[in-house]
Amino acid sequence: MTCRIAVLPGDGIGPEVIREAVRVVEAVGAATGIAFDFTEAPIGGAAVEATGDPLPPETEQACLAAGAILLGAVGGPRWDREPAARRPETGLLRLRKAVGAYANLRPVRVHRAMAGRGPLRPEVVGTGIDVLIVRELTGGLYYGERGLQQEPFGERAYDTMVYTTPEIERIVRMAFQLARGRRRRVVSVDKSNVLETSRLWRRVTEAVAEEFGDVELEHMLVDNAAMQLVRNPGRFDVLVTENTFGDILSDLAAALCGSLGLLPSASLGLPGRPPLFEPVHGSAPDIAGRGIANPLAAIASAALMLRYAFGLEREARAVEDAIDEVLAYGPWTPDIAPPGAPVAGTEEVGRAVALK
Ligand code: NAI
Ligand code: MG
Repeated sequence: MTCRIAVLPGDGIGPEVIREAVRVVEAVGAATGIAFDFTEAPIGGAAVEATGDPLPPETEQACLAAGAILLGAVGGPRWDREPAARRPETGLLRLRKAVGAYANLRPVRVHRAMAGRGPLRPEVVGTGIDVLIVRELTGGLYYGERGLQQEPFGERAYDTMVYTTPEIERIVRMAFQLARGRRRRVVSVDKSNVLETSRLWRRVTEAVAEEFGDVELEHMLVDNAAMQLVRNPGRFDVLVTENTFGDILSDLAAALCGSLGLLPSASLGLPGRPPLFEPVHGSAPDIAGRGIANPLAAIASAALMLRYAFGLEREARAVEDAIDEVLAYGPWTPDIAPPGAPVAGTEEVGRAVALK
């Protein structure tokens, strides 16, 4: 089996961190004999410069022909005044649509070595935190009917939250399946004391749970979930939720880990379409070109790719263990170095992970 990967470095620090992620996957290939085949293609501002299109047809074709897409980041001040069709993020939105991604996975892991370097007190970090947030991505409040009307007293604006049974079923089922590869606990987050969509969400979730007798289900209201994520994040395994709730809670959970440079993500969608893996951070124009960007989010995204696109659980875990070791003992980029510790560059960190 050859694992075919479309590599889209993008803009700013994108190419710098993706280079290290590819280095680590190549090291996995060399150590295991698994064949990885990389096809690099432009996206975002880099693609606009080369072709005038932030998602050129050749890039889209290379993605759809691959088993997975590994993306850096897009955007930068240089393209901020471009019309929408030539804006870098338009390319990324079109790509997400092309792969039919309806689930956004944001694992937040806080290694115990990071206690004191992030915002959490050591007793909250405990032996470590490992939460997988599964956010519904193509429905809910962000996609319902919206409008703005003139009224005698001024203006009136509205947004609507809409979900159908099949939309809820597929995302919740995915969460339960993911929980089976983890600690077998799902927390479904809603606002069912107020919202009708949440009451439907809860009923459908209960029905799906019947198929997964080996996975524990708990319902939690979204306001309580926000508090629990801060106070006791160690109690969560898989958290599944509506689009807007997931957007907010995943940023909240992200802040727990101390640096944007550590957070990976996966966007999974329709069967037969390639999943997309990318760090949560952007192109970081403020540090681009200096060789100091943290590559661990991109490398962790590559680990998710090994797990979820190619079923290489053991290899994914080996990469995550190597990341944890680097977090504990260095080398560290400036964003995560403990006070007073020497700092390293992007490539040094990438090589350290690849060597383990
Ligand atoms: P950003 O994530 O690029 O940067 C925010 C802050 O975090 C900056 O101070 C940056 O230096 C730091 N940072 C980010 N990643 C880091 C890493 N790996 N190592 C060390 N420090 C890191 O967000 P910002 O500044 O709001 O956006 C910059 C550009 O990126 C914009 O053009 C924006 O549209 C784009 N962007 C793209 C995304 C994507 O491609 N998925 C996501 C978010 C923003
Ligand atoms: Mg967000």
